[in-house]
Amino acid sequence: MAQNEEIFKKIISHAKEYGFVFPSSEIYDGLSAVYDYGQNGVELKNNIRQYWWKSMVQHHENIVGLDSAIFMHPTIWKASGHVDAFSDPLIDNRDSKKRYRADVLIEDQLAKWQDKIDKEVEKAAKRFGDTFDKDQFVATNARVLEYKEKIDTASRRFYGAMERNDLADVKKLIEELEIVCPVSGSRNWTDVRQFNLMFSTSMGSVSEDANVIYLRPETAQGIFVNYLNVQKTGRMKIPFGIAQTGKAFRNEIVARQFIFRMREFEQMEMQFFVRPGTELEWFEKWKETRLNWHLSLGIPASKYRFHKHEKLAHYANAAADIEFEFPIGFKELEGIHSRTDFDLKAHQEYSGKKIQYFDPELNENYVPYVIETSIGLDRTFLAMLSFAYTEEKLEDGSERVVLRLPAVLAPFKCAILPLVAKDGLPEKAREIMDVLKYDFMCQYEEKDSIGKRYRRHDAIGTPYCITVDHQTLEDNTVTIRDRDTMKQDRIPIEKIAELVRIKVKGN
Ligand code: GAP
Repeated sequence: MAQNEEIFKKIISHAKEYGFVFPSSEIYDGLSAVYDYGQNGVELKNNIRQYWWKSMVQHHENIVGLDSAIFMHPTIWKASGHVDAFSDPLIDNRDSKKRYRADVLIEDQLAKWQDKIDKEVEKAAKRFGDTFDKDQFVATNARVLEYKEKIDTASRRFYGAMERNDLADVKKLIEELEIVCPVSGSRNWTDVRQFNLMFSTSMGSVSEDANVIYLRPETAQGIFVNYLNVQKTGRMKIPFGIAQTGKAFRNEIVARQFIFRMREFEQMEMQFFVRPGTELEWFEKWKETRLNWHLSLGIPASKYRFHKHEKLAHYANAAADIEFEFPIGFKELEGIHSRTDFDLKAHQEYSGKKIQYFDPELNENYVPYVIETSIGLDRTFLAMLSFAYTEEKLEDGSERVVLRLPAVLAPFKCAILPLVAKDGLPEKAREIMDVLKYDFMCQYEEKDSIGKRYRRHDAIGTPYCITVDHQTLEDNTVTIRDRDTMKQDRIPIEKIAELVRIKVKGN
């Protein structure tokens, strides 16, 4: 098993063992790609949401919040393009009865050729040593050129077929590339067909022909359809933003990789309304602001990178992802899109209501342009767990697993631990807990040896352990143990709150 895959598995089992993430409906054998957050997970998730909300809404005078309903009028999804175009091309293997995304099958094949190129380069680099010129090798080596040609031809053909919605050609390409089902090993494929990713249900109170209701696949549309309400009641002046967090639902076909791709997940989105013509400037500003948000958590910059979209969605005139290096590789964590006036114009057209802004400086009405920042809460959770999970060998030869979570996000900020559960120490510890708990999420624990309790709190990422011992009863001091260094200092009780506050403040 590749080392990273092994680490990913360890993170998943750690998340379950320590009450962060459980498979949904586990006693009924689970529900595919749906997860529940346990007692520690819900704290971490709430903290991530709050850190985002504070930075986007509380710290920006021109951004306000919203909490729109999950159910919305079905025409919204027609106007947004989701009814007609929010779909994946699917293909089934008749022998294994397994269903695949046709684009994923083809992209996996392209990745195999790319791997072969990488291997040729690696071999040549070893053979030629310091004199190796990679660019020249890639431009001239016959085998590399052959694989590159295969990649270019197949991707041109695939993207062309998708643009023309020529699904028969996509199937033909899968056959010509001799792609086999990873389960049955056969090439016995069905036709390719489009599969809409929206979940639907029905609502009794709407008229017969419009009773299909969708579970929203993004929170963004709730913002667009409330643009006029918020702008008018909040007397908002452009540029301004509306932010919201909430559940979104997608019937993902390739839903693997733990909480990376789920069918029910949570998004944190912000739509920033700007004057037409200024959108690309704002796009660059938001790219920078959002990257800085990630870096403010103290995670090394090398863990993040931008991925610029070359092929833009029909509504966008610029788009980039912030990718994070998960154990499964660099993958999208957040999307930043310049969505032009596509959505507001579409809602204007479908609803028949004028959705415009009167710009007093220009003395002109216009439909605002929009920059969107959209980040997955669950993916950020996974990014934090992946970054934080650390296995350490200690000087005394023992081992520990520690979650080096940013302190501002940790489920508990400190643990209050009486050294022994007697001699008046629990009572003293409870006194401290009763003061601290109004400001910080703290946990009182007296069961097991102090060493075991330290390890348990290392494993859930608690930045500080406060130990109450016999000396505490004499001089009102405690020891405070730092999760990362394991160093212990003795401090007066009245200093604890200040130290914890500094540690968990965030940037
Ligand atoms: N409103 C724009 C939008 O929804 P998106 O790229 O489809 O854009 C934005 O989604 C973010 O939502 C992604 O960057 C990702 O973090 C998260 N996300 C999307 N689909 C997800 C899924 N199935 N499971 C978990 N997170 C998902």
